[in-house]
Amino acid sequence: MANNMRYFIGNWKMFGVPKSINILDKINTFTNFNKRFNKNYKIIITPPFTLIESFAKRFKNKSIFIGGQNCYHKDSFGSNTGSISPFMLKKIGATYVIIGHSDNRAEGDTAKMLKNKVIGSLNNNLKIVFCIGENKKEKKKKLTYKVLRNQLTKVLEKKFNYNNIIIAYEPIWSIGTGKIPKSEDLKKISKFIKKILKGIFKTKKPPKVLYGGSVDGSNIASFKSLKEIDGFLIGGASKSSKKFIDIIKNYYR
Ligand code: 13P
Repeated sequence: MANNMRYFIGNWKMFGVPKSINILDKINTFTNFNKRFNKNYKIIITPPFTLIESFAKRFKNKSIFIGGQNCYHKDSFGSNTGSISPFMLKKIGATYVIIGHSDNRAEGDTAKMLKNKVIGSLNNNLKIVFCIGENKKEKKKKLTYKVLRNQLTKVLEKKFNYNNIIIAYEPIWSIGTGKIPKSEDLKKISKFIKKILKGIFKTKKPPKVLYGGSVDGSNIASFKSLKEIDGFLIGGASKSSKKFIDIIKNYYR
């Protein structure tokens, strides 16, 4: 049984309509029935922008936090068609925001843009889930550590409030593929990420490091023994209350 605080973040990506709030109602009921677990984990759901306000209203002061999946790289208002700024996210009740997801990096997010997104989000008191991860080719060429170091050092700076930053290690080859890293690799990689973070922020208590990529109710057991992993960023399995609850149940079983 893990005693440290763990994060279970459900990233819905392009999924959800207003009635999908049922999924959160069920998860909320589960956590209320399991008060003994409450001190041990935090649930965050990042629905699409269209649902943030209604979800955040319903779950204000409850056991589920709501976040955005991305934000624009300027922090308030601007003439940027189709964009949502950190200021706008904060105003509708988001408390977290994912930045640097590989989906968005693939669509053109550069390190400079990501840095501006982080700055804008911190300025608006949002907590950040900053995603990093190597692709299949980079893994094959043994470039994982180099890629991760670059992704961290090109965006994060000592002056940032690292108490409001969480790192999610999401190897691209594991997202939606059913493949997860070997435990010993994940252990080494998460230790490496924490070492880099200690260096950037000059602290002994670096940001939390989560794992994301094909996490489900069956493979979650294999992560239990990895004390270096502070939680999970869950895609596909977060769109069903049963699958999401199974992950939490089986993690603490
Ligand atoms: P899957 O859990 O569907 O692999 O997605 C992971 C992810 O990208 C979460 O942000």
